Amino acid sequence: MLGSGGREHALSWKLAQSPSLTKLYAAPGNPGIAEEAEVVSLDATDHDAVVAFCREHGIALVVIGPEAPLVDGLADSLNAVDIPVFGPSKAAAQLEGSKGFTKDLCAQADIPTGAYVRVHSLDLAVAALDGFKAPYVLKADGLAAGKGVVIAKDRTEAQAALADMFGGGFGQAGAQVVIEEFLEGEEASFFALTDGKTVLPFGTAQDHKQVGEGDTGPNTGGMGAYSPAPVLTPELQSRAMDELVRPTVAAMAGRSTPYSGVLYAGLMLTEDGPKLIEYNCRFGDPECQVLMMRFTGDLAAVMLACAKGELAGADADFADETALTVVMAAKGYPGTPEKGGAIALNDAEAEGAKVFHAGTREQDGALIANGGRVLNVTATGANVTQAKARAYAAVDKVDFPTGFCRRDIGWKEVAREGN
Ligand code: AMP
Ligand code: GLY
Repeated sequence: MLGSGGREHALSWKLAQSPSLTKLYAAPGNPGIAEEAEVVSLDATDHDAVVAFCREHGIALVVIGPEAPLVDGLADSLNAVDIPVFGPSKAAAQLEGSKGFTKDLCAQADIPTGAYVRVHSLDLAVAALDGFKAPYVLKADGLAAGKGVVIAKDRTEAQAALADMFGGGFGQAGAQVVIEEFLEGEEASFFALTDGKTVLPFGTAQDHKQVGEGDTGPNTGGMGAYSPAPVLTPELQSRAMDELVRPTVAAMAGRSTPYSGVLYAGLMLTEDGPKLIEYNCRFGDPECQVLMMRFTGDLAAVMLACAKGELAGADADFADETALTVVMAAKGYPGTPEKGGAIALNDAEAEGAKVFHAGTREQDGALIANGGRVLNVTATGANVTQAKARAYAAVDKVDFPTGFCRRDIGWKEVAREGN
């Protein structure tokens, strides 16, 4: 397992429960992951070192948590020496690595998404705004740590954002820009596992991207999430599979760059049905945490089946309950977070809740904050209302004076449940 966040803690926790697992190593890991795996020091950007470690320890499957090593081709380096990997090749990870790539693929394969243009210079971008209405959706093409999307309310704001993108404000990610139609509706996330041919639905979730209550303030990596997302009805899930995910997997196979691993579709549920906002080539963080709370199968076995092209006939079973996670972040996030704050988990897990470590470190035997998003306090219940009450009861047991969290995770669904 490669990675060090809450997503990787949740994956390690589930992998450790896999009947087919014999030994789990994790790098670089975190104190939560260290309870599930032997943590080793290994740099995912050093492909030779990763390959050497896998050979030395007879690793049967490498699970790559975050997008950066996937877009960087780590799966290719491992596959080249026949080490199975859960996660796509560099070419297939372009579905997340280049927004323009994905939009072009959608256009060719007739996959529903917003109208768009790709532009390579500020002049062309400003001229292209004529073809769109406010609010303007502007996206730096490459990976920008979740910060590459600007929704500009008018032309002045759009031009300023474009000038920033082409001026290097998003580094290389902004050398190309996608301008896109603004889609109206509710957002939801749909996950599927694939080995390049077979596609297996793997749950739904909704997250809260904004830092403030009532979904206000700057965007973050996600302040909380719940699964399943009842807005994604069985009918909408079938449409997402038939109209988006299956055609995408088929188009990637048709280009001889088959996609394997998890495909995370960010959807807008519009009046005309689900439309693609974006693809990610890895699990969502913190959506993964709530999916793993509900997944009841052998995770190592299903991931290995993806890696080996043997997914046909596999199934993915999830408990028929809701899981909800609350992100406890360090003050300052999503700006510069305060590091080093003391954390005491106390008996937060006593009533069946689970605390995933996202940005923690151990110092002299004590737990301290070491990142923006620090803990993911997660609980299950019969519905969102109950899972939320249990998750916040656990949050309230945690002592983390330099931390904060939103108190309203799941609010839309709680309202729909009549509470
Ligand atoms: P992304 O990084 O692509 O997930 O975009 C960040 C956020 O911007 C999404 O979660 C949406 O809330 C919003 N967004 C992106 N594209 C669109 C669009 N075409 N229409 C409306 N909102 C969008
Ligand atoms: N929570 C959003 C993401 O992982 O992209």
